[in-house]
Amino acid sequence: MNLKDSKVRYGTVSRFFHWGMALLVAWQFATAITRVVAEDSPLDEFLWATHKHSGVLLLVLIVLRAAWALANVRQRPAATSTLARPGHLAMYGLILVIPTLALMRQYGSGRAFSPFGLPLMPGFEGDKIEWLTAPASLFDGALGWLLLALILGHVVMTLVHRYRAGDEDVLPRMLGK
Ligand code: HEM
Ligand code: HEM
Repeated sequence: MNLKDSKVRYGTVSRFFHWGMALLVAWQFATAITRVVAEDSPLDEFLWATHKHSGVLLLVLIVLRAAWALANVRQRPAATSTLARPGHLAMYGLILVIPTLALMRQYGSGRAFSPFGLPLMPGFEGDKIEWLTAPASLFDGALGWLLLALILGHVVMTLVHRYRAGDEDVLPRMLGK
């Protein structure tokens, strides 16, 4: 078992981050999409109750994942196309920025917030703090859907590289084969 990455494939830790976060991101968008298409349905109430908590978990994981990626930066598989690197970086950036803006809004709203029961924000009385809530209200939704579009493009390109003649199949790198 290779914990670290190599030029040929991603190691166990990177693969764990990648597939674990892929599952969590799928969950995150399931909660957001259900919110949009079936607000206040029983399914929405069940799923939405987890949105903020899984969003915070994603933020923690992306920080750890970025640190691990940096520690392995000289020994990772090379990008196969010019768009791969900026695309991957954009996904990192959005998974960092979206929950950060959302947490700023949460704090600025004055409402208490305890992700997974941990008392992160005690909440406060009085007016909400406009400069903390405004950025998320302006950009959050759009950035969220942009992330979803990038992820769909990422999955499609993985399949294109796998099946198009002459391309390098990159899936085995992330499957550890
Ligand atoms: C990577 C993490 C996250 C992603 C990908 C994400 C994505 C989304 C998406 C796509 C929406 C729907 C936007 C729309 O209605 O058009 C949404 C809404 C929302 N998110 Fe997140 N989110 C994340 C983290 C968080 C966190 C950490 C919090 C709170 C602490 C949060 C709070 C909210 C709230 C309150 C809404 C509803 C906003 C509204 O009704 O205008 N999200 N999120
Ligand atoms: C079924 C879904 C997915 C498939 C089949 C897939 C496939 C892959 C493959 C094959 C690679 C290696 C690419 C290369 O080295 O050129 C990769 C890397 C990567 N993928 Fe995915 N992916 C999926 C979902 C996701 C999701 C949901 C995210 C974002 C949360 C994501 C983010 C990344 C990133 C950032 C990399 C670069 C390696 C790293 O820094 O971890 N992927 N993916």
